Amino acid sequence: MNLLRKKKILLGITGGIAAYKTPLLVRTLIKSGAEVQVIMTPSATDFVSPLTLSVLSKREVYSTFTSPAKDHDTWNDHVALGGWADLFLVAPATANTIADFVHAKSNSLVTATYLSCTCPVLLAPAMDLDMYAHTATQQNLKKLAANGVEVLPVGDGALASGLSGKGRMLEPDTLVSHIEAHFAKNAPLGGKKVLITAGPTYEPIDPVRFIGNFSSGKMGLALAEAAHQTGAEVLLVIGPNSLPLQEVPFEVIPVVTANEMHQSVIHHYSDVDIAIAAAAVADFSPQQKALQKIKKSNGLTAIPVAPTPDILAAMGELKQSHQFLVGFALESEHGVQNAKKKLKAKNLDAIVLNSLEDAGAGFGTETNKITYIRAEKEISYELKSKNAVAHDIFSAILQDLDQ
Ligand code: CTP
Repeated sequence: MNLLRKKKILLGITGGIAAYKTPLLVRTLIKSGAEVQVIMTPSATDFVSPLTLSVLSKREVYSTFTSPAKDHDTWNDHVALGGWADLFLVAPATANTIADFVHAKSNSLVTATYLSCTCPVLLAPAMDLDMYAHTATQQNLKKLAANGVEVLPVGDGALASGLSGKGRMLEPDTLVSHIEAHFAKNAPLGGKKVLITAGPTYEPIDPVRFIGNFSSGKMGLALAEAAHQTGAEVLLVIGPNSLPLQEVPFEVIPVVTANEMHQSVIHHYSDVDIAIAAAAVADFSPQQKALQKIKKSNGLTAIPVAPTPDILAAMGELKQSHQFLVGFALESEHGVQNAKKKLKAKNLDAIVLNSLEDAGAGFGTETNKITYIRAEKEISYELKSKNAVAHDIFSAILQDLDQ
């Protein structure tokens, strides 16, 4: 589902260095099918060219109340701009503009549009760390939030001043995710909580060695993104991985061992509406973790192991009537038969079968080929990207929830 298609987004750019990132933001929004109208404060035009933004948005860009025309100036109607938009995003929002919004000033086209618009407003602050941390700024942001403005967080890292800390405008991709999340609130999974387990678990043998597997966590991340795009509040409990999770717009709980994943899942489970266990949990863990690195010269012929907790089975036992529980089954033979056994044994509502017999399915790949199985039905899908597979899984779940 593309949440941005045909959405009318009014982008207000104010005068901070982060404005240089807005052409990429506009391009990404346009590529996602949104219509974008850019307005700017005059000082923003010092940081990014209106011509660039106009070319990318395929619309005129306004930074003043009037524009010169042949006979007489024309009015850039801030009321009509606000009325046109489904969403007004102010990015970057400087401390100055934030203060102007709080005090209902209409000293620029952006501030006047803020006062007159009736659509939801999203604000992406950007400033130096001390300005952002200042009580006055924080109070202003709280006031705007209390007035219904959705105030986005800031990024943490290098700032134009040479200092490092909280104050960076969120990256364009992250801003787009927040916009999607905004539209997702009214989407099919709006108001639902989804918990996803993902990645491998590592079971330590000694301080430097572990029992693990080749799971990358990509399928779980794709599921988390699809759930988020479909409107859900998402919690991703994920084992060791090298995925880009720093700025994802949902909660991520990193864990290492099966025991940690088990504890985290059980802690959050009673609150969730849909849980999907995509993790490749190690089935066995060394009975003892050696405190020091095991020396080769000491010799090692066996590692005594004990079973790890079956996290999905535990969720199945605790399942309440409002919860929909989905497992994964990675099988090398008799796929459907084995998956159906797990469906029943773990008290699941559905199970997603990956067969190692299918090329392009399973660990580490960018693609997957699945069969969605319930007690009374099976749907087989073609080989697809993991993102597309994740959307197929949620479409199937939504259909089942509707029945
Ligand atoms: N799973 C789990 N906790 C475990 C083992 C598995 O939550 N300790 C979940 C997986 O996330 C997956 C499902 O159980 O959703 C099935 O995992 P799979 O490895 O296919 O099956 P197992 O139950 O481990 O059985 P086997 O390895 O014998 O096939």
